[in-house]
Amino acid sequence: MVVATHLDLKLSGKTAWVLGASGAIGSAIALMLADLGVRVWLSGRNQTKLQAVCDRITRAGGLAVVQVLDATQSAPVDAAAGAIVREAGRIDILVNSTALPTFGKFTELTDEDWERTFQSKLMVYVRTMRAVLPHMIAAGSGTIVNISGKAGRLPSPAHLPGGSMNAAINLLTKGIADAYQHQGIRANTIAPGPIASERLNALTAQLATIATANPEYMARKGEPEDVARAVAWLASPLSEFMNGIVLPLDGGSIPTV
Ligand SMILES: NC(=O)c1ccc[n+]([C@@H]2O[C@H](COP(=O)([O-])OP(=O)(O)OC[C@H]3O[C@@H](n4cnc5c(N)ncnc54)[C@H](OP(=O)(O)O)[C@@H]3O)[C@@H](O)[C@H]2O)c1
Repeated sequence: MVVATHLDLKLSGKTAWVLGASGAIGSAIALMLADLGVRVWLSGRNQTKLQAVCDRITRAGGLAVVQVLDATQSAPVDAAAGAIVREAGRIDILVNSTALPTFGKFTELTDEDWERTFQSKLMVYVRTMRAVLPHMIAAGSGTIVNISGKAGRLPSPAHLPGGSMNAAINLLTKGIADAYQHQGIRANTIAPGPIASERLNALTAQLATIATANPEYMARKGEPEDVARAVAWLASPLSEFMNGIVLPLDGGSIPTV
């Protein structure tokens, strides 16, 4: 893993809440932030997976806390945010990196498929931001980094529900940035292209079954640490003049500006 060892991102001592911290990208983000001195709260539904990430962080000398959470309901999300603030005093950084993969041909996807994608991605981000913002406003500062995805700008035929959520998250995050900038809060989006993960393997299998798939889509593959480095930068006060952006993180593979 490459960590910014010479550039001080001024993140040491901060508190972060990472949703999807057991996932391929979320775990890399949590590890990166912990490595930079951030105390990280790790959320997802699976305690065993979260504990494994927590153990890696603590073995490396970092600080992490497991906060098991199904973020498809508001009440547990609000309770989790409150618990973090009670224990840590504040939440400086919120990172959203959740989703349940929904891949397949548009004509074969059901309402339930769309609902699962909506609830596990867009609505998780809505709920966590709504829960955290009052605390950030009270503190007069905070940074939010939301992981959307390249398919929010460049449609992937096997991934239309996820892509639609990504497009919504790009807009939502910009709206949050605009609404709360005068209260010391920044919100930015990272839109990764394909990142090495189980999710990518599942998508690749689906693409192989869909005639309209663009074979070039899979030409580039990123690593979870590519995303984690971008999160660290956007969470850092060194990027304080960047707000409301959608950062493409796809190796330059979108054929447009
Ligand atoms: N991998 C890629 O190629 C790629 C590319 C572009 C964008 N992205 C986006 O990046 C994000 C992370 O992707 P990934 O590859 O790391 O996926 P992943 O490995 O499947 O991780 C997804 C995470 O979301 C959590 N999660 C799902 N539903 C949840 C819920 N209801 N409440 C709380 N946590 C929940 C999962 O934990 P539990 O199962 O324990 O709940 C897991 O930690 C997603 O938004 C994805 O769309 C990924």
